[in-house]
Amino acid sequence: MAASPRAPVAATLFAVVAFLMTRCAVAEPPPSERSALLAFLTATRQHERRSLGWDASAPTCGWAGVTCDAANSTVVAVRLPGVGIAGAIPRGTLGRLANLRVLSLRANRVVGTIPGDLLRLPRLRALYLQQNLLSGATILTRIARLGGGLERLVLSRNNLSGHIPSALGNLTALQVVRLDGNRLSGSIPSMILAGLAVFNVSNNDLSGSIPKSFARFPPDSFAGNRHLCGDPLPPCGGSRL
Ligand SMILES: *[C@@H]1O[C@H](CO)[C@@H](O)[C@H](O)[C@H]1NC(C)=O
Ligand SMILES: *[C@@H]1O[C@H](CO)[C@@H](O)[C@H](O)[C@H]1NC(C)=O
Ligand SMILES: *[C@@H]1O[C@H](CO)[C@@H](O)[C@H](O)[C@H]1NC(C)=O
Ligand SMILES: *[C@@H]1O[C@H](CO)[C@@H](O)[C@H](O)[C@H]1NC(C)=O
Repeated sequence: MAASPRAPVAATLFAVVAFLMTRCAVAEPPPSERSALLAFLTATRQHERRSLGWDASAPTCGWAGVTCDAANSTVVAVRLPGVGIAGAIPRGTLGRLANLRVLSLRANRVVGTIPGDLLRLPRLRALYLQQNLLSGATILTRIARLGGGLERLVLSRNNLSGHIPSALGNLTALQVVRLDGNRLSGSIPSMILAGLAVFNVSNNDLSGSIPKSFARFPPDSFAGNRHLCGDPLPPCGGSRL
């Protein structure tokens, strides 16, 4: 019952071909994610000649600043710091990256607000949008409605105005909140964020006494607000010398 001597050879050849086929068929995120990324870039780099090398014929997961999951089946992070992005983030672009966890667009010229679809992404963990031209009073209010998952919120050095909403206290996973260098006004609401390790609201226009739950942060977390007082800053109502 000797098998034909060719059978093992055929099996080996089949295995090699199958292996090569899986290597060549590069896994890709769904076309909707690819087109969402291209639409974002088209809308925000119209005045910029330098290319990011997002070659439509190359695999999406190989594009500069784009990170996929282990199986290359979905985009999980977009990091494009200081690449000359200019303009507002259009609705229906980054907001279509359903599994996005990390977005960094720091040190660009992103203007206006953050579209609602982006702020509804259920897996968003980190938002690094410092050193841009984001403005208005609604961004923080809408971020506060994100749900529980956000861990890092960095909006330093933008043009945000309005109050810090107390609803931010609903984001119980927050570890880092940096809002320094904006035009925020009003008082700091009392919030219990047990996991918060970094909190910085320096260089705004905040006033009133610092809630007890924030007294554990250093004075320079609050510096540059002329009307803010209380621990760790000097006491309210003048010092009793
Ligand atoms: C994912 O895509 C990158 C970039 O194209 C590639 O280098 C890597 O081998 C791919 N990994 C898988 C598991 O397909
Ligand atoms: C900052 O925002 C205000 C409106 O809130 C706007 O009038 C002003 O031009 C903005 N400044 C910059 C530098 O974008
Ligand atoms: C968030 O907190 C505010 C008050 O701080 C509360 O009114 C609201 O119901 C909470 N939940 C959501 C989803 O905003
Ligand atoms: C807060 O931010 C300012 C810049 O606006 C920086 O100088 C300061 O060191 C920061 N402090 C903390 C505790 O993060």
